[in-house]
Amino acid sequence: MFIEINNLCKSYKSEDIETIALKNANISLNKGEIGVILGPSGSGKSTLMNILGGLDSADSGEVIVDGIDIVKLSDDELVEYRREKTGFIFQSYNLIPHLTVLENIEIIQNISKLPLDINEVLESVGLIDKKNRFPRELSGGQQQRVAVARAIIKNPAILLCDELTGALDYESAIDVLSLVQEINRKFNTTILIITHNAAIGEMANRIYKFRSGEVKDYIINNDPIDAKGVEW
Ligand SMILES: Nc1ncnc2c1ncn2[C@@H]1O[C@H](COP(=O)(O)OP(=O)(O)OP(=O)(O)O)[C@@H](O)[C@H]1O
Ligand SMILES: [Mg+2]
Repeated sequence: MFIEINNLCKSYKSEDIETIALKNANISLNKGEIGVILGPSGSGKSTLMNILGGLDSADSGEVIVDGIDIVKLSDDELVEYRREKTGFIFQSYNLIPHLTVLENIEIIQNISKLPLDINEVLESVGLIDKKNRFPRELSGGQQQRVAVARAIIKNPAILLCDELTGALDYESAIDVLSLVQEINRKFNTTILIITHNAAIGEMANRIYKFRSGEVKDYIINNDPIDAKGVEW
């Protein structure tokens, strides 16, 4: 397995209150697979993705990526892991408002070891003619595509998408999902998508249903469909 999360536990303590976010969560993905995480609000989905992305720490358990347990890495090693291996797409896009589309992507390209060609990436997300625009001049779907471009420019081994399509209308959502699937097929990128939309599971190899910090149901889909065929 390329990604193997074993018995991952995480709780948050603020003042005297302890919130258990993850209780022995298990997930595994082969290289080049797409995984979808479903589950109600507060069930631990983002917590797991943040730990896998090296943005948060675990209390216990293993997060093995390409043979290395990232739970055991030092802070410096974790920075290196984040920079080299992971692309992260946040629901809120997180674009820098005073930078153009091109500049938003370039700042990530500049810190990457083996980045892709920026014009090719802009072409593949369909934004070549918008490259000198600012985020505020773009629609929500277009901003989401800039966020995708920024996450894939370093050609990451793992692409993590937290609520990839939550803010998009149906057409834009299918466009972005198709784009992500294209990246998966072209670069053999391993992709994990958090969504509230069960229909998106149809394009995934594995579907994990979270409840109260646990994986309550796990489905292997032997016949993932084209993103263009996903309907809701
Ligand atoms: N930084 C934090 N400090 C304290 N509690 C937190 C923190 N982050 C998450 N939690 C709590 O951990 C639990 C899991 O949160 P998480 O963000 O993983 O849920 P989620 O499944 O992503 O939900 P949603 O679908 O609403 O995004 C929740 O009860 C949440 O309140
Ligand atoms: Mg979340």
